[in-house]
Amino acid sequence: MATRLGLDVRGFDAPLGAEITGLDLRKPLDRETVAEILAAWYRHQVLVFPDQDLSPQQMVDFTGQFGEPGKPRMPSRTVRDILPNLPPEVMIVSNIRVDGKPMGLPHDGEMWFHSDMCYVEVPHTATLLYAVELPSWGGNTLFADMYAAYDSLPASLRNRLEDCRALHIHDYKRTDRPSLDVDLDKVGNFAHPVFITHPETGRKALYVNRLMTARIEGLDPAESDGLLEELFTASEDRSLVYEHVWKPGDLVMWDNRCITHARTDFPENERRLLRRTTIVGTQAPR
Ligand SMILES: [Fe+2]
Repeated sequence: MATRLGLDVRGFDAPLGAEITGLDLRKPLDRETVAEILAAWYRHQVLVFPDQDLSPQQMVDFTGQFGEPGKPRMPSRTVRDILPNLPPEVMIVSNIRVDGKPMGLPHDGEMWFHSDMCYVEVPHTATLLYAVELPSWGGNTLFADMYAAYDSLPASLRNRLEDCRALHIHDYKRTDRPSLDVDLDKVGNFAHPVFITHPETGRKALYVNRLMTARIEGLDPAESDGLLEELFTASEDRSLVYEHVWKPGDLVMWDNRCITHARTDFPENERRLLRRTTIVGTQAPR
């Protein structure tokens, strides 16, 4: 039976983000609570639900109350071999090796700012991460507010790029720019508008990131590189960032349409394991 237990939303002393307490995410939510969580999510962009105790399937069930849970694009045989009961909607985000092999894409150390799945036509709108094992320091997630990044741009730059599109490439790296030398038939890539309008809030957001955005279409390479550097610098300004220091049992849900995220470094000889789900999008960013 759906429960309603006095939801408490507390905005962080940061440019974005809020903590929600008073909910046990293992239990189904009633319709009003789902609506309240969504309203808080649109307002704060990142929601943290601390002290949860979720099995992989419970995480999928929670996710499914807000939309259709996505399935990882590259299900790893290694993960499925080790965790045969892992629901297909759950991706493991970890640096742990089993018999020398990573559990899916290796998630080691620092990772630059990016927006999940910006390299496909219809990216997933939300990403949820649930912390299981954490290192003694680092591996924090930085969340940057892309509404504020857009608002911070000089009017001349906004006008210059108003109708431009940028090409995003999934050239899996963690701290390097995507290469334009890759065979685009072999890797995920898509060109989206540089500025997008969030379909729920109506607010404009910057939609480029240092890790995956390769070029602005239609410009010569030097001009594209120069303008992108200006946009990246604006989008990574610390005044736009909330840094989440994880605790086991944290469930964090963010909005890929108005947030980029990055990971800080952590010790390579310590274990870090989180589970990830997503919510599929229904339209291309525009
Ligand atoms: Fe990510």
